[in-house]
Amino acid sequence: MRRYKEEDAESIFQVVSQHEIAETTIKLPHPYPRQTVDWWINFVNENFDNGLAYEFGLFKKNTNDYIGNCGLVSVSKEHNNGELGFFIQPDYWNTGFATEACQALIEFGFNGLGLERIHGRCMAKNIGSKRVMEKSGLMVEGLAKHEVLKWGIYEDIWHLGLVRSEWLNRKT
Ligand SMILES: CC(C)(COP(=O)(O)OP(=O)(O)OC[C@H]1O[C@@H](n2cnc3c(N)ncnc32)[C@H](O)[C@@H]1OP(=O)(O)O)[C@@H](O)C(=O)NCCC(=O)NCCS
Repeated sequence: MRRYKEEDAESIFQVVSQHEIAETTIKLPHPYPRQTVDWWINFVNENFDNGLAYEFGLFKKNTNDYIGNCGLVSVSKEHNNGELGFFIQPDYWNTGFATEACQALIEFGFNGLGLERIHGRCMAKNIGSKRVMEKSGLMVEGLAKHEVLKWGIYEDIWHLGLVRSEWLNRKT
């Protein structure tokens, strides 16, 4: 797990341009313009430096293959909370990468940043994403019906969250 560099753009593009990735993400466009990746790397790094979001690339240690992205995609300094976001290259689905990365981020969010709350959301049809968040300790807070209009269909969205005291209790 490391910060992004400009030269990661092509590997990121090969993943974010895939239909399977766009289908269940709330914000990713499809098709994904190649030049948007260059903008995005800059955006992510500026946000990181300003403490507004902390996104990391997941890379294989030996080969440097890009596995995916995981981060606190927005951090509120005012309310001391952060929102999780992640995607994994489809070849690596269901091998535990998203869960391992989320758990590391939660540790970073509570311990490193001193956050009070970490939350996440996913489409109701995104069983894998909900499972990742639950395995990482987040608990379902509710289902917002028709919260998102994606590709012409209103999607129900699960909201999950974890506060510091619950996380500490979970660890003991
Ligand atoms: C969601 C996503 C990040 C999961 O990544 P991953 O690395 O495969 O996740 P993990 O392997 O850590 O865990 C997935 C869990 O979901 C389970 N799962 C996945 N699909 C499932 C399904 N259709 N039914 C039941 N369980 C399912 C897996 O079995 C696994 O649980 P387990 O370890 O208890 O067996 C990945 O599928 C992805 O990138 N999807 C597209 C982008 C996206 O939707 N991002 C999230 C936006 S909120």
